[in-house]
Parts: sequence; structure tokens; C-alpha cells
Amino acid sequence: MASGVRAGSVSVRPDPEPCRAQDLGLFEVVTRDGAARIGRLHTLHGSINTPMLLPVVNPNLRTIEPREMWDRYGVEALITNSYVIWKHDELRGQALADGIHALLDFPGVVVSDSGTFQSYVYGDVEVGAEEIVAFQRDIGVDIGTMLDVFGRPDMSRAELEHSVEETAARAEQSLDTAGDGLLLNGPVQGGLYDDLRAAAGSLMSSASGEHRGFAVHPIGGIVPLMERQRYRALFRILLAARSTIPPDRPIHLFGCGHPLLFPMAIALGADLFDSAAYAIFARDDRLLTPTGTVKLADVREWPAHSAALFGHTPHEVMAMDSDERSTLLAHHNLEVTQAELARCREAIRNGTIWQLAEQRSHSSPQLRDAFLWVLEQLYELADDPVGVTTLNLMASTNPVRSGGEHLSDDVGMRPHILHLHALLSMRWRVPGSWWDGSEEGPVRVVLVEGAAPPWRDSALGAVVSALVEEPRSVVMVSTPLGPIPFSLEDLSPWCHLEGPDDIWMEAYDNDEITEGLEGLGLDGLPLVRIAPSSDSEHEQTTTVRAWLDRCAVVDKLAVLCGVSPIDGCMLTDGMSSRRSRTDRMVNVHSGGEHILSPRLTDGGLTLALDGARRLNALDPNPPTAFDEPIDDEGSDHPGIPRVWLLDDAIPFVGQGRNVMQGYVLGADPHLTCGQPCLVVDGNGGLVAHGIAVTTALEMAHLKKGIAVRVRDGALKDP
Ligand code: GUN
Repeated sequence: MASGVRAGSVSVRPDPEPCRAQDLGLFEVVTRDGAARIGRLHTLHGSINTPMLLPVVNPNLRTIEPREMWDRYGVEALITNSYVIWKHDELRGQALADGIHALLDFPGVVVSDSGTFQSYVYGDVEVGAEEIVAFQRDIGVDIGTMLDVFGRPDMSRAELEHSVEETAARAEQSLDTAGDGLLLNGPVQGGLYDDLRAAAGSLMSSASGEHRGFAVHPIGGIVPLMERQRYRALFRILLAARSTIPPDRPIHLFGCGHPLLFPMAIALGADLFDSAAYAIFARDDRLLTPTGTVKLADVREWPAHSAALFGHTPHEVMAMDSDERSTLLAHHNLEVTQAELARCREAIRNGTIWQLAEQRSHSSPQLRDAFLWVLEQLYELADDPVGVTTLNLMASTNPVRSGGEHLSDDVGMRPHILHLHALLSMRWRVPGSWWDGSEEGPVRVVLVEGAAPPWRDSALGAVVSALVEEPRSVVMVSTPLGPIPFSLEDLSPWCHLEGPDDIWMEAYDNDEITEGLEGLGLDGLPLVRIAPSSDSEHEQTTTVRAWLDRCAVVDKLAVLCGVSPIDGCMLTDGMSSRRSRTDRMVNVHSGGEHILSPRLTDGGLTLALDGARRLNALDPNPPTAFDEPIDDEGSDHPGIPRVWLLDDAIPFVGQGRNVMQGYVLGADPHLTCGQPCLVVDGNGGLVAHGIAVTTALEMAHLKKGIAVRVRDGALKDP
């Protein structure tokens, strides 16, 4: 038992269950926050829940016993080096005789590397590409690594092209040698060249063997960048490589294991990390913390807590003999690493991974520089591999969130907020008719300033008065993120921005306001800035409010679901609704049918079955199949997004079961995670409606997990 580890707290975990044969090597996305995803990779020694870190275990130097990692820290998978074992006669014999799991005494998933990193450090390795894969297969590794050619960042373009091409040339042979049971890592090289990283991603992900393609794509050649804290280059590589790696392949950052980097890397789509940092830093008397590394000699009190350090002072640890000390520090480092990953996973679950990355970016100047560079990419969306990934990242966020949004200098650049603003400027339109029945264009913009949400309480009086005075007024509310239409006043995050009270009192200058209005096509209209008031004592108040309610439904259908305002108006003709105790619309009826309900948690929409039927009747066709070219007319309002279901699944989904990945034949590209969609058959007939869990691109690739969380089946027995 390692020093500082209390025997009483050790729990012994049972061995993992092997996956079903048909699931071997499949990756599913369970929950996501934009590009960050909680995933599950299925293997014969259990499933790996990602994002996670594979602790590096050197079979010659087991700083923390693999069994303890499994039992005590819940480590589901580790990584070791097959080349080190292959070179060592005794270890090799033992591994071949008893298997790698017995050699390491680890029941979970064993990943192994191939010796490429040794070739980078020592110049060459003695093993052949086929031989090292065969060895990993024969010792029973779960996920091995082919022998790739390490591409250093300082190499010439010609050398890096060679590293990409030679790695790709070895891919199919390696996959064939791996056979049916060994999953393989297909590393992506390419140095600092975006186009080479993208080409490598494409070559490696399209390689197929007799049994399957690569299970995981590690990004290689990045250790020298991390050693020199060149984080901008690191994240640039991740974005460029991801542009061509399909979403059903988890991405591993080879050699990345400092907790400081996890939130940003995960926010940009990294799933797996590996590192010996926990042990190497411990040997050097250094402690990992989520915000950096500290020297034991420099601390009087612990900068980060762990069970390993509990009950010890830095002074006492300093006085230990060096083996005992480094074992204790390695335990601490592993705990901190695991805790930061748990924090990241939790942030994905509650939609705050970007907020966490933003916070962590302040921990180091190099990381801050990298973070700001990523924000520039999100803004520019260049026509290159980095731009492809950043666009996908933004489009894969759910633009509407429940819960508070912490205000910061960078809040307006959070991907889901950029997404919401992009949808607003593309799809929102001024009303086609006004509460008094007039149908001419608007004559002015009225901006309510100095009011805090909920604006239906704080500003309703001023809004109604402005509309009574001039019915053809476009009423907007001022927010720290810019002016928004009053019709969307209960949409989160706008109404859930968290900061001191005076954030709502800020008076923006005319230029700032005009910039915000320009994006919505309102810049040519006279602007009237008004103060809020809550009382609305007009005889027309009821009529005006009914009109505002209808605007809210039409605008949300347009912005969140892509339904044209004309169709939205048709759907809501004669609508009525009840109001909640907080004065919000519930259960919207039209033509005697319950068509939808505004979601009280985030202001989005929940369709009802009759609403889904009526939306489907507007254009009863299935979307284009995944294997056919998309006829992209580029409409701002392409209609409610649809998912085309395979015939076999219709009886289940029609009864209300979720749509599973692998049963989808096509999906509209504007499908938005977290927002409503329809599920249809090959003739465009409605099967169900629900909430999209993944993007259309992901549905085209993923084979496991939920694609659409179904709210109601359309084929239920009466
Ligand atoms: N470990 C760290 N970097 C690399 C790499 O580029 N390739 C392989 N196989 N292992 C690594």
C-alpha cells in the first residue's frame, strides 16, 4: 500500500462486462455541449466513458499499481507501451504467456502505444510496423496503436508530407494484422500545416481493414508543442485535424495530460488524453493543480486538495524519503487530474464547458493567447480546415440554455450565444401585420432600456403604451448582448444573464445600438429609446398582449425551428393560450388543437403531436438521404428539420420509442441539437416528433446511442 493511502477507504470494484460482439469498437455520444461530448467507447474489457485520461503505466516502473487505479480511482482504461514490453525479454514472455491484463494486473481497458514516440526520442526503433501490431494483438491489448511516423513541428513540409503519407501507407496492413479482436489507433500527423492535418485526418479515417477501420484517432506529434507551452499551435492542430475526422471516431491528444489543458481541449472536441505527467512531475517534486504546476518546495500550504495529501503538511512531505514522497505526490497528481476531468464532464452535462474553458484561460498567458485566437476563428469562420471545424462547433451547440449565464468580457463569443445570434439575424423578421390589423411596414424601432428581466414584468407597460401610440413599432429590449426583439424576451440565455444589477442599467451609445439593429435589418428605421414601466392600463392592452403572444410563437418557430413566418402565422391563426402563475404562455391551441407549449425552463418550444402534424403537412417529404448530394437552396427558413427513419424502426418510434443512431437514412442539415424535429418515413409521413440529440452529420456516421429523444409517437394506438 502506497504511503498516505488509507486502506479503509479502498473499495474493490468488480471486473468490467465485455461489450456485445456487434458493439466492439463503436463510439456513442451520450450528452454534448457543442463539440464537447460525453461519449462511450465499447470494448471487450468494458466501455470507456469519455472524456477521460489514460494514465501511462510503465511496466518497468509502476508508480501507482494499475489494480489500485482500477479499485481506488475508478480508472476505466490505461495506456502502456507495447514496444517497451516487446524489447524486454522477460516482460515479453510473460505478456505472451499470460496476456497484458494479467501482466499489469488490470481488469479494465488496456490501450498500448507502438514505439513511435521512442523513435522520436531515440532516433529509431527496431521493430517492424506489422510485427508491433501483431504483438499487441497477441498479448490481448484492447486498443493498440499502429507504428506511425512521428512528425515534429519543426520539420519541413516535405518531411511532414512523408510522415503523413508513410503513416497512411501502413494503415491498411496494420488494420488487417490487428484482426477482429484488436481495435487500433490511427494517428494523425502533419506538423503545423492545417492542410496536412486535414489530409491526414481524411486518409486515416477512410482506411479500412478486413474487419473495421480505426477505432480512435490520436493527434500525434504534439508533445514538443506542449513542452514549450505552444497552446495556440496545439489547438490549431486539433481544429484542423477534426475538419476531416468523422464524428464517430473519438479523438485522443497523444501525450496531453496536464489538467490545465482539459477544458479547452474538450470544448474543441478532444475525447481522450494520456500522460505520464502525474508520475513524472511527482518524481520532480511538483504538484499538479487545475490551473498550473507548483513546486513542493515553494508551498507552505496545499494549493489543491486531495485524499492523498489529506493529513500531511507540505513540510512533512518534504521530509519523506524520495520514493515515498514521489508515490504520494503521484497519487495526488492522479486525483487532481481525475477531478478536473469529472468537472469537465459535469460542465458538458450542464452546458458550461465553454465557460469553464474561458475561466481556465486566465490561468496562463499562453493559454489565454490560445483561447483568444480560438475566439477569432469563431468570429471569422474562414474557408479553411480550421473554419470548417469552428463552424461545425458553433452549429452543434444548443442555442437555448436553461440556467444562468455568467457574464464576462468574453460572454458574447460563447459558441451557443454566437449560434443564437446567427439564427436571430438570419431567421427573425419584422411582423407582417400589427395588432390593429394594419399590414404596412414598420415605421419605427422602440428600444426599451434600463429594464431587468423578466421584461414581461418590468417593461410590459412601456411596450404596450408604445404599441398603442404607434402600432407599427418594432419593440426591442436592450441586453448586455445587444438589442433583442421583445417577442423573445423569455428566451435563455438572454433573460438569464447573471451579473450585478447594474448590467441592465447600462446606457449604450447610438453606434453600439445601431450595430445591434443592423444585424436584424432595422438600421434604416427611426429609433425611439424609452424607459421601462410595468403598468399597462390601456383599453387595448388585452388585444395588444394577444398579438405579442402570437408574435412570440411565430418568432420562436422561425428562429429555433426554421419555420417561415408566413407558415408560423398560418399555424397560429386564432391561437389561444393559458397563462402560468409567472404570467407566461402555456399550452398554445389553434383551430381547437393543442399545437405547442413554450418551455418554461429556457423559453424554447415543445411541440405537441397536433402541432407536429400541422408542421409536417406544410412539406410532407423526407429529407435527402445521407448518400445523396444535398440540394441546398440556402433558404433562411427551410422548415422544421426532419429525420428520415429506416422502415424497420417505424413501429417502435411510432409508438414513442427514441430514434437510435444507425436507423436514420437522412436528416436535414439545419437540424439543431436540443431543438424540436420531426421523424418521418420514406414518403414523408409523420412517425414521431422529438428533440434532436446530435447533428445531421453525426447521424450520418454514428451507429450507437440516441439520435432523437422522442416526445410523442404519431402511430400510437388510439
Ligand atoms: N506519443 C506521443 N506522441 C505520439 C505520436 O505522435 N505517435 C505515437 N504513436 N505515440 C505518441
